[in-house]
Amino acid sequence: MNNTTPTIPVIAIDGPSASGKGSVAELVAEQLGFHYLDSGAIYRIVAYASQLQHIVWSDAEAIAKLTTQLNIEFSHGNIMLNGSNITAEVRSEEMGRGASEVAVHPTVRDALLDLQKQFRQSPGLVGDGRDMASVVFPDAALKIFLTADVEIRAQRRYQQLHNRGADAKYETILQDLQVRDLRDSQRSAAPLKQMPDALLLDTSDRSIQQAVDFVLDAYQKSLHSYKKI
Ligand code: C5P
Repeated sequence: MNNTTPTIPVIAIDGPSASGKGSVAELVAEQLGFHYLDSGAIYRIVAYASQLQHIVWSDAEAIAKLTTQLNIEFSHGNIMLNGSNITAEVRSEEMGRGASEVAVHPTVRDALLDLQKQFRQSPGLVGDGRDMASVVFPDAALKIFLTADVEIRAQRRYQQLHNRGADAKYETILQDLQVRDLRDSQRSAAPLKQMPDALLLDTSDRSIQQAVDFVLDAYQKSLHSYKKI
């Protein structure tokens, strides 16, 4: 991956945990034939790799150093670290928490910047995360802030875990999301926030397909106008 020319279009989709932005971003990428960057997975991998090395999530310096030694690969829906498939481990609630703890460190965020930019490949990229529009791809062709009420997000996450056979409690999930929302939006480095030039997409009352259609429609409109909608 070496073609990072700014003319390659990027659709940046930011939003809080469990808002459905990952599913929406992946489907939009599929429809447009674009590449897809799940930046949250990168922070989760870093949390997981730190734990493997017995590095505590508060140790910014050691974690930033560790990021330079990671061989990360996304392959057919699997997450590979140094050749091992760690998809299930990385998708756990524990690593969601760990990701949000390692993500507060500016040095760690800086260390991961180039890696994320390398995903900008022709014919285009859909990136989802917290700072796609603000930091990683500020020149994105389209910026979406995708959110939903926290109770609805907790309910969706509960259903998802329940379907996977996991033993999850709605109250615990809700509390966890509230803590993560607060940490993600109040940190000083790249806090989660809607950029002035981003479109708000509230999925509380929308299906995934309706959200996908909204993004595709907005992208088509953005192609006809230099001005962001
Ligand atoms: O999106 P996901 O829930 O997998 O992200 C896990 C955590 O990683 C988030 O709670 C957030 O703290 C962090 N993150 C971030 N910046 C991104 C993507 C994720 O800080 N671009």
